[in-house]
Order: sequence, then structure tokens, then C-alpha cells
Amino acid sequence: MKLRRTHSCSDLRKKDIGKEVIISGWVHKWRDHGGVIFIDLRDREGITQVVFGKDDSAGPDSALAKSARGLRNEWVISVKGNVEARPAGTVNDKLDTGEIEILAGEMEILNKSKTPPFDVFGKEDVSDEIKMKYRYIDLRKQKMMNTLLLRSKVNKVVRDFFYSGGFVEVETPVLTRSTPEGARDYLVPSRIDKGSFYAMPQSPQLFKQLLMVAGLDRYFQIVKCFRDEDLRRDRQPEFTQIDFEMSFVNEEDVCGVIESLIKEVFKSAINVDVKTPFRRIEYAEAMNRFGTDRPDARFGMELVDISEIAAACEFRVFKDVTGKGGMVSGINVEGGASKFSRKDIDDLTVMAQGDGAKGLAWIKVTSEGPESSIAKFFKKEELDSIIKKMKARKDDLLLFVADKRKVAYEVLSNLRLHLGEKLNLIPRDDKAVFSFLWVIGHPMFEYNDDEKRWDAVHHPFTAPDKDSIEKLDKNDLDAGELRSRAYDLVLNGMEVGGGSIRIHSKEIQEKVFNLLQIKPETARQKFGFLLDALEYGAPPHGGFAFGMDRLIMVLSGARSIRDVIAFPKTQSASCPLTGAPSKITEKQLKELDLKIIK
Ligand code: AMO
Ligand code: AMP
Repeated sequence: MKLRRTHSCSDLRKKDIGKEVIISGWVHKWRDHGGVIFIDLRDREGITQVVFGKDDSAGPDSALAKSARGLRNEWVISVKGNVEARPAGTVNDKLDTGEIEILAGEMEILNKSKTPPFDVFGKEDVSDEIKMKYRYIDLRKQKMMNTLLLRSKVNKVVRDFFYSGGFVEVETPVLTRSTPEGARDYLVPSRIDKGSFYAMPQSPQLFKQLLMVAGLDRYFQIVKCFRDEDLRRDRQPEFTQIDFEMSFVNEEDVCGVIESLIKEVFKSAINVDVKTPFRRIEYAEAMNRFGTDRPDARFGMELVDISEIAAACEFRVFKDVTGKGGMVSGINVEGGASKFSRKDIDDLTVMAQGDGAKGLAWIKVTSEGPESSIAKFFKKEELDSIIKKMKARKDDLLLFVADKRKVAYEVLSNLRLHLGEKLNLIPRDDKAVFSFLWVIGHPMFEYNDDEKRWDAVHHPFTAPDKDSIEKLDKNDLDAGELRSRAYDLVLNGMEVGGGSIRIHSKEIQEKVFNLLQIKPETARQKFGFLLDALEYGAPPHGGFAFGMDRLIMVLSGARSIRDVIAFPKTQSASCPLTGAPSKITEKQLKELDLKIIK
């Protein structure tokens, strides 16, 4: 490399006119205007126009101009030349450097490039698979590059925030034992202890608790976590948490730290002032009003429970379900009566059935009275009281689901989001709309119908609240009644983080394991190290973990988590770029004492 760069491709301005400079980068675009070659040269920071063959000494016939004519998109070059004002009428307002250009005097071609497999800067007409295979080319897009820059900035803001708050950054192991967070583990076979496996951490949960027992007081880490679960728009098999833990704290202390951090990150990253404290909603209220524990509170269309009216009516479907402990709940799609045809409602019904509903009952409130799939089953007063309860007015469309609570909630919550999107009720692309919500008061356990046992709603190390601790010893304990000291942070309907005050007593931890039907031997085998530690002076402690990738999604406006990760995985957890996961050799299998059974 002969020419050593003096400036980036976004540095030069009018004030630099007359300077001799060297810039380096990729040929973003080139045009031949009657022998004069114009090149947009691009680097991480921006674009600068370079002109070849314009002046007398290096005119169109010069060796320099000829060599510039041979350039192609994405070749890598360095150019030495003088900064000049662009001629009147050719100033480009869209570029920071749009008032100047560089009149090239010397060029060094540093590398050629094959024609990229897709038009990097044109319209997106190529599959995600190809884009991921050539990720290093896709990342050249300004938007992708900006996201990586933003992410790096957030990393720094987070580190500065925690360091200035007296938190200590500690790295926890990646080759470890299972930390249950509700997903399947990624496993790594041991070569030395054949037949044994390490688990990759689903989170550093247990290590950060042990650090509190050690007396570290305040810990944080920006850390990779691994979960083998079904992937979605906001889920990757490996993702990053901003993880922290504190000793001698209660919920208020931990949530205060989180709110301050969010304030700082949003201000530094996107210059948005986030208002704190965030609103709080009890889990039960969130379920009743939104059908989900991560409500998108940016719009209304809340669920309304009409079980009481349903219980007294003659419509079997409604009546029966309330008799069996289920519920009838509905949403009011305002102005939906004229907007939704029978066919549209059929489509919504199919959607609802896809989520497990048995049907979708509807009432259109029209000037001729209610029009409905179920009107014939109801007396006029009953219909009137339903309409009243739903606060429905003329031209509203009411949709109802009668089912087990869990199903009704899920179906209506999804319908609500779908309709909110479809009817444009969710404010978009408006950076000012960040609706943060604390969800608190979760149940400790949720009954798993398939497995016929209780599952932890958070992880099993979450502390029960005071009332629940008292109930733990009751003989006729209903585990479903116990409440935890967890707090989840929801932003625009996405769970961006979660945490809790932890159990720091061995006895309570054992009782919780017991309720989860984890046998004492199993608890000892899996979590003996934690139970031991709890007996050696464990302080009261609590903490939290943000989904860093989700946070960046929100900050950058990305629709998919893949857009905020440099090298993400596909829906099937593979990496088209490296070909991971891949087969291993016979020798490797032998070393690990493993055999592949097809
Ligand atoms: P939790 O399991 O809620 O809590 O995880 C914390 C946050 O991590 C993010 N997250 C994910 N992001 C992308 N892809 C995934 N597959 C994925 N899974 C989770 C979410 C989630 O809110 N140890 C506890 C925290 C604690 O109690 O301190 C934990 O891991 O944004
Ligand atoms: P049917 O009597 O089965 O024709 O149902 C009459 C209406 O009730 C139809 O619009 C069905 O979609 C609806 N329906 C049936 N089962 C349910 C249910 N469990 N919840 C809500 N609506 C239902």
C-alpha cells in the first residue's frame, strides 16, 4: 500500500478546498461522462466523489484516466488528489461531502472485486439465504453498517453506566452445566470425560448469584447466551444479554437502575428523552386487559370479559364454557362493522382457529340493530347488555372467544395485535412512541397440562413474595396461587428484559424445587453447588437481564433480530456463511467416543 489515507470518506468539507488528501475505500458507483470519470468512493463513514481526467495534466487520455475507466463497482482503491468545490449546479445536498469533490492525481488499485452476487445498493431482490451467505457484502449497506455502529455505541454507554455505578464486570463460563431458563440446552461433548457433556449457558443466572455470595456486591456483563428453541422474528439461538445482579436490594432498587440505564441509552443512542418511572401493571391485569403478559399499550382495543353475561344466556357454547371455569372475552373493533365483510370475518376466524379457538363469534352494531353470527341465541336484553359492556357504538364490530382462559387470552391477544396493525392503530416510525411497561406480580408457577406438573413462570431461583412464603408450608397449598418477586420490562409489546429478587435461603429454594417436582436427589445433582452456596452466607440479592438484540431492534427500528446481529443464524439455526452446523470427521467422533445413529 503506497498511498496512506489522510481522511475518511465523510471528512471533507468546503473548508478543506485546496488541500491535498488521500482517501481509501470501495468504488460505490462510477460514471463516464465523455471520458471524464466520476467515482463515488465509499468507506464506513460515508461517500466522497472523485473525478478523473478532468484537468489538463491528467486529461481523458492520461494513463490515470484510462486506469480509472477500468474500475468496477466494489473495487478497493486509494486516491490522492486535491479537494475542489463542485461546479455550480452539481452540489449534492444528500451527501455530507456534497459540496466538494476530489480531483484525482494518483490512484492505487488495492484489490479487484468480482461482481457481487446481488445488487448491494439497489432493490432487494435476493433471498435471505444468499444475503447471509455473503453477509460481509450485505453489511456494506449503510443501514446495516449504521446498526453495527449503533450497537457498538450502546455497548460503550452500558459499560460506562455500570462502571460509574460501581458494578464489576465479570466473565462467566460458557462451558458449564445447564441453567434452566425454559429452553433446550446446546451441548458440547467432553473429550476427556467421555460420555459427559457441557451445557452452554442459557443465561449466567447461577454464576451471578454465586458472585453475590462471594461478596462482589454489584456485577454486570454483556454476555452471549444460548438457547435451542423455536426461532422467531425476535429470537436467535445465540443472543446477547446485558446482565446484572446486586446485593442488599429490593425491587425498587433494581428497577431504578434499569430505568436510569434506559434513559441514558436512549438519550445517547438516539437522542430520545424517555420518561421515568415507567408505568406498572400487575400480571393479572395485563392478562385481563390485553390477553398477554407483554402488552402493547400503544393502542386500545382492550379485552372485555363478558363471562358473567355469557353464563346466564342460552347459547350453549358460551354458557358451557363458563360453567367449566373457562371464559368468554371479546374485543371491540371500532368502526369495524362496515370495514369487515363476512369474508374478512371468516379469515379472522381461521386465524383464531389457528391459535386454538373453536370459533369466533361476532356482532356488528348497525343502524338496523345488531347483526351477528350468534344473535339468534340471545334475548334482546342480553345482546343490549353485551353491547353496553363492550362500550360498542354504531358501526363497531365485536369479536368473542369462549374457551379456557389461556386459549381465549392467546387468541384475542393475537387478534388484537393483528387488527391493531391492519387498522394502523400502532404508531410507527415515530421515534417518540416508546411505551415502556413494568409487568409485576407474576405467578410463581404455571400448570403444564401436557406434562401434568407445575413449571416455573420465571426461572426456579425467583423469590416468592412475602404472602407466598407464608403459604409454602400449607398442606393444601395451591401452587397456582403463589406470586413471585419478578419484574419484566415490556417495550411496545416486546419483552426486552426480565429479572427478580432471588431466593437466598436454602430451605425456600428446596421447597420451590419440591413444588416443581424436582426430586431432592435431582436437585442435589443439578443444583447442589447453588444449594451449598446458599448455606455459606448468601446475601439478599436480585438482578435483571436485558435482551440486548431486542433493545437494538427498537433503537434502530429493525423489523427482524437478524438485522441487528453481525452474523446471525437462519430460521433453522444455521449459518449459510460458514456452513455451521457441520458434520465432523470420523476421527473427531472417535475421540469423543460418539457414534452417529442415522
Ligand atoms: P430471560 O429468560 O427473561 O431472563 O431473558 C432475558 C431477556 O433476554 C432476551 N432473550 C432473547 N433474545 C433473543 N433471542 C432469544 N432466544 C432470547 N431469549 C431471551 C429477552 C429476555 O427478556 N437470567 C434471567 C434474567 C434474570 O432473572 O436476571 C433471564 O435470562 O429480551
Ligand atoms: P355454531 O353454532 O357452531 O355455528 O357457532 C355459531 C357462531 O359461534 C359461529 O360464528 C362460531 O364461529 C362461533 N363459535 C363457536 N364456538 C365458539 C367459541 N368457542 N368461541 C367463540 N365463538 C364460537
